[in-house]
Amino acid sequence: MTSTLPVSNLSPAQHAARLRDTVVGWRRHLHMHPELSYHEEQTAQFVYDTVRAMGGFELSRPTKTSVVARLRGMHDGPVLAVRADMDALPILEKSEAEYASRAPGVMHACGHDGHTAMLLGAATALGQLRERLHGEVRFLFQHAEELYPGGAEEMVAAGVMDGVDMVIGTHLWLPMEFGKVGVASGPLMASPDVFDLVIQGQGGHAAAPHETVDAIAVAAQVVTNLQHIVSRNVDPIERAVVSVTRIVGGTTYNVLPGSVELAGTIRTFDRGLREQIPALLERIVKGVTTAHGAAYALKFDRGYRPVVNEARATAFMQRVVEHTLGAAALAEARPTMGGEDFSAYLQKTPGCFFFIGARNEARGIVHPHHHERFDIDERALESGVAIFIGAALEYLGRAA
Ligand code: NI
Repeated sequence: MTSTLPVSNLSPAQHAARLRDTVVGWRRHLHMHPELSYHEEQTAQFVYDTVRAMGGFELSRPTKTSVVARLRGMHDGPVLAVRADMDALPILEKSEAEYASRAPGVMHACGHDGHTAMLLGAATALGQLRERLHGEVRFLFQHAEELYPGGAEEMVAAGVMDGVDMVIGTHLWLPMEFGKVGVASGPLMASPDVFDLVIQGQGGHAAAPHETVDAIAVAAQVVTNLQHIVSRNVDPIERAVVSVTRIVGGTTYNVLPGSVELAGTIRTFDRGLREQIPALLERIVKGVTTAHGAAYALKFDRGYRPVVNEARATAFMQRVVEHTLGAAALAEARPTMGGEDFSAYLQKTPGCFFFIGARNEARGIVHPHHHERFDIDERALESGVAIFIGAALEYLGRAA
């Protein structure tokens, strides 16, 4: 390093700048070698080996493909947990970048490679600042965010949140321009519940519909009527989504099928509404199918809980963003109906989940999360490293 300042006197942003190329290198390595949820063997090993080489961390493997690294400061104090997810998606990447996926059909299309690299960057810097830490920084490298029931729940069950006083986490965020960091108190991400529905009619010849119970016609009525839940039954001030996302029935031109299968998602922030919607949905399914002489089988499955940021942890993170990146960087995060299993940690401890802008219109980095051309403005990695370092130093660095 050419810096003349001793490492301990650098600001979080200066630490992040020093680590820029290293962190980009880690991100690209992970991007080239993506692994699906619950199969992050190489990724977890890479994280484990990288942190072990830093020295000074207590490492553990709470599940087969997750890693926890505990950094105890030189003084007593609270415990701050910082989480990154590590899994990729079953998508064939379309990219001309030299760091494009080397695993056909598997792609880091959500930015979790960047999350992991940023957390490794923060660990590198904070590992050199132990004498300034009053308490512990616990780095949670989590598997399987993308696939229900999710890795967070398993890690919580394995005890990774024991003794934690606050938990923070982030998502690199394509809806937000690079240079902005979105933080907001209250509901941020929805609970993504799902349902499966079979409409049972009576099959027969398409030319004799009067001798059948046409499951396709009934399914069409059900789909139309389900739109009334959000538009007519939910308070317009509340936020909810009910979408039918799958409909399968029939085989050919002259046969009316005996049954049609449907599936869909229900997304809410409010706990009461979350409880209420399945009953509304079933009332409509029951009413419509009964009206037409059909029967039904309906099953609901709970997804992740909603991510709800605690007020004090949010105010803390807003201060951290202002101190590390400047007041102009701080923006109000816009809630999304997407789900996040970070909510599992928030069941244990107050915390804050925030968004780091990674969009760059001028460079064509505009594709949404889970798109085959998804990419990030890699400068956002440096912002994330600075914020994690800043958060640890502000939370644990009293009387420095
Ligand atoms: Ni994601």
